Amino acid sequence: MAHSGSEIQPENDEERLEREHFHKVLRAFSHYKKHAIERVSKSQTDFHALPERHRKMLPDFLPQLGKIRTCIDHNYEVLKLIIEQADDIFENKAHGPATDSDLHMPVSTFDLDKVKTTLRQFVRDWSEDGRYERDQSYTPIIEEIQKLFPGDQCNVREVSVLVPGAGLGRLAFEIARRGYMCQGNEISLYMLFGSNFILNRSYGVNYLTIYPWVHNFCNNKSKEDQIRPVHIPDTDPSTLPTSALFSMAAGDFLEVYKDPDSWDCVATSYFIDTGHNILAYIETIYNILKPGGYWVNLGPLLYHFSDIAHESSIELSYDVVKRIIKDFGFEIVKENQAMPSTYTHNQKNMLKYEYSCIFIVCRKPERPHSNGTLDYESS
Ligand SMILES: C[S@@+](CC[C@H](N)C(=O)[O-])C[C@H]1O[C@@H](n2cnc3c(N)ncnc32)[C@H](O)[C@@H]1O
Repeated sequence: MAHSGSEIQPENDEERLEREHFHKVLRAFSHYKKHAIERVSKSQTDFHALPERHRKMLPDFLPQLGKIRTCIDHNYEVLKLIIEQADDIFENKAHGPATDSDLHMPVSTFDLDKVKTTLRQFVRDWSEDGRYERDQSYTPIIEEIQKLFPGDQCNVREVSVLVPGAGLGRLAFEIARRGYMCQGNEISLYMLFGSNFILNRSYGVNYLTIYPWVHNFCNNKSKEDQIRPVHIPDTDPSTLPTSALFSMAAGDFLEVYKDPDSWDCVATSYFIDTGHNILAYIETIYNILKPGGYWVNLGPLLYHFSDIAHESSIELSYDVVKRIIKDFGFEIVKENQAMPSTYTHNQKNMLKYEYSCIFIVCRKPERPHSNGTLDYESS
């Protein structure tokens, strides 16, 4: 399955930044073990600082830390497999070898958190444990696409579906598996490395074991919960017929998709709140849809850049977003404002975030505004 980047250019500042970022992400994967073990060492140090009478009451504590270390070792083995395959991820783009400064670029806690997020996203997208989340978020989207473009009324191979913010690619994969022409788009190299690995290097079902909850030291009901294994992938991606029309495209959705009137459907799951400007996302979705095309969306409004220093963010409530959707020219054909769903949730953990998501289906009219934007007259 092809992962495509943009055309090769001679290295300018932008290319240099991309190269540095590429190697920084690889370094974050490589540093995972050291970082995760440091956290275990802290627990060990804190344990030894307890009064002896208390330590004696916890005979299983140090053996448990040993098990946690073993789980981290296993995770690291899987992460190494992922980065081994990362070098040739893009069919039309090469990142030069790491320079000395790339190799010494610091890896932040933020970068390492993204590696842990990638492990959790594997559960959501590619494990049996993630099925209940996929049933909550992906199934309503897929069923809606099948209702809008039914196989007995159209040739689904000619129906183009774009999935921006595709994560590890399961939603896009499932749409392609049902015969549609589907492209996932993703900006994060953490996710792209992960999806490239799982989609292109598949050896069957559940052949890999990860321990995604091993970093959760809090809210465990049993100590076994922290070291609970998760097997991936629950379905073998290589069973997708070679005739399937499925691809992944790397890059910023707003930059990659500029051709107007080109997609029959855009499907977004937990995506529209990830940008600096939600209006730009809605505007782009409107512009790239063919007249008569549909946008199917499910997700919350978490606004990822909200409260991040030096990052702009416009946080709009749903009633305003809904007005904006209509102002751009969409017709709202279906809406449910209370779809319960969780995101990369550890089912055994005492802490649970549940979103009451928006599910909305919008249609671009056959005779839309010329460019999807409105002219406002000044008074
Ligand atoms: C919250 S995750 C949702 C992933 C997946 N759709 C799901 O439901 O599990 C949002 C995804 O959007 C990606 N993303 C954020 N901004 C993006 C952009 N401008 N273009 C493409 N992808 C983007 C993130 O990297 C992340 O993988």
